[in-house]
Amino acid sequence: MKFSYFLPTKLSFGFGAVEGIGAEAKALGGSKALMVTDKVMVKTGIVQRVSQHLGGIGLEVFDEVEPEPRIEVAQAVADRVRSGKYDIVIGVGGGSSMDMAKVATGFATNDGPAKSFVGNGLFAKEPLASIMVPTTAGTGAELTVTSMVTVDGHKQWINSPLLLPSVAVVDPDLTMSMPPGVTAATGMDALCHNTEAYLSNLASPITDSAALEGIRLIVQNLERAYDEGSDKGAREPMSLGALLGGIALQAKMVYGHSIGYTIATQFKLPHGVSCGLPLPYILSNYAVACGPKMKKLGEAYGIDSADDPAALGMAMAEKARSLVSHLKIPTTLKEIGVAEGDLSSLADECIRMYPRPNSPLVFDEQSMVQLYHRMWDGNLAP
Ligand SMILES: [Fe+2]
Repeated sequence: MKFSYFLPTKLSFGFGAVEGIGAEAKALGGSKALMVTDKVMVKTGIVQRVSQHLGGIGLEVFDEVEPEPRIEVAQAVADRVRSGKYDIVIGVGGGSSMDMAKVATGFATNDGPAKSFVGNGLFAKEPLASIMVPTTAGTGAELTVTSMVTVDGHKQWINSPLLLPSVAVVDPDLTMSMPPGVTAATGMDALCHNTEAYLSNLASPITDSAALEGIRLIVQNLERAYDEGSDKGAREPMSLGALLGGIALQAKMVYGHSIGYTIATQFKLPHGVSCGLPLPYILSNYAVACGPKMKKLGEAYGIDSADDPAALGMAMAEKARSLVSHLKIPTTLKEIGVAEGDLSSLADECIRMYPRPNSPLVFDEQSMVQLYHRMWDGNLAP
């Protein structure tokens, strides 16, 4: 066995964790902060709730982040962070805000248009220190090297290990006011991270341990958090499950996220909906390819009655579909308006633009088209 794991981010978790943000910022040498967030966070008072704990640290707020941010938003963040003498960046919100906060730390110290950093490892100079404060239980972006950007209508990414945040302050109290639809989408994203990371060929004992516990926590608590948002006993494990998903993400995603990218922009789906829809089909498809590992995955999904990987895969797929339905997330491509005639081109885009060399299941054009047809029809059986 051989693996490496790199996570320099300090974690502070629990109800009330946000109260320590000023001390964390000072410990990082922060005296003037740029907070990167969106207008919903301002409107709901979360920006104010976080800011009040910053002590004497100077603060300016960039609140122009949009969902699934375009490269133009990343450029606006770059212009802003380069225009002031900030020494720390604070990301407050969901994955989009945290992703834009992460790239802001790199743009502050590296010259060039935002577009020139799309790709892997393109920051040469050490970025600013950063603190991430997630307000959803979903993306795990507070612990990852990846920032997603939409370029010319397609999902792309800015990746760099230098952009890993200095500190992640994960306070479940900040997730309590999430509306049910956001709880559903972000919670499904977290479940997909844990599941796809577990299915990846790059999985290690570290990512597997995180993923299995993350799945267990989310499967047991997502419906509760969705049905009753004020249930602290469900919100806390959801925050933890999402954080574990961020840890597991180093194993990289398999084709569930790739499929999600092909439908997200065109059909205007939140990220968690676009990757939640394919999840049941991914589970049944990958079951045989991942044979020996499936038993533990089944247990995490609350299923331990089937020994045969294919039967277990179908049982998990049914379980995931019932969860997706409960959360009122579409379960077929037909439902979101995909035309049957477009399935081949979506399958082609999936393989061509979002390949997964780490996937234990290899798709050719034909098998990917078949998978898209099953997702269109609602047929779980591979
Ligand atoms: Fe995701």
